[in-house]
Amino acid sequence: MWPWVKGSACLRLSCTGFRIRGIVSHFVAVLVLLVSASLLSAHTVITTKITWSREVSRIAYLHCASCHHDGGSSFSLMTYDEARPWAEAIKQQVIARRMPPWNAVKGFGEFKNDRGLTQEEIGIIANWVTGGAPEGNSAYMPARPDFAAKVDETQNSGLQVFVSGTLVTKGRLDVIGIEAKQVPPPGTLQVIAQRPDGSVEPLIWVEQFNPRYTGTYYFQNVLRFPAGTKIQIMPPKGEVTLVVKK
Ligand code: HEC
Repeated sequence: MWPWVKGSACLRLSCTGFRIRGIVSHFVAVLVLLVSASLLSAHTVITTKITWSREVSRIAYLHCASCHHDGGSSFSLMTYDEARPWAEAIKQQVIARRMPPWNAVKGFGEFKNDRGLTQEEIGIIANWVTGGAPEGNSAYMPARPDFAAKVDETQNSGLQVFVSGTLVTKGRLDVIGIEAKQVPPPGTLQVIAQRPDGSVEPLIWVEQFNPRYTGTYYFQNVLRFPAGTKIQIMPPKGEVTLVVKK
């Protein structure tokens, strides 16, 4: 029942007035609905030249897709349609450096399997999202990564040397990697090595440690430590294993 057809007890004139007002407000309501629906369905205002197809997909394929694909450890971020609903969350995760999970502070130790984003890559993603997260021309999409062809980092592996607190090496050690084993709350750990000649080598600085994503960090170059090198972990309750050449 329409609200303005309310019996015949009212005077004809006022009924008509009521009725017209009813129709007008009904119209306005429909208009508001239409306008807001078209606002929702129309694309957000695009204020960036950065697109998924050209820039963002390349970063995602390089740094995210190994986990974020169908059959991977998390939801797929392989296509625009899959990534677009996550745009805000992606921006927040990469700015906070929670994704990709890496846990190591950049610039303290250099790792060849470094998964962390550069500041520039973070900027590209953030600006893409802020600018409306446009798709761009899909002709620019890079080739899908080949997940099967992932390099097996373990073929690098050597002997494991466990370090708790501080260790002074008895013999020479050629260190190729490091893994955080015990990171006391609040999840921060720093490891340095001081050679007998006094030179200090930063090994790793772990922050926001997430035990679900641990793994071995492989150094860019083999670190050679002569006997008498002091490996020191802060806080002293921390524990790591060093991967050393056999
Ligand atoms: C080593 C595997 C791995 C990599 C690499 C990785 N992620 Fe993730 N990501 C996960 C897993 C597992 C989850 C779900 C569980 C969690 O939140 O830890 C997740 C969750 C997320 C979430 C949802 C977080 C939330 O709860 O809102 C976003 C967004 C995300 N990842 C974005 C990214 C982006 C962007 C990259 C690349 C720049 C990336 N991830 C790289 C494993 C990964």
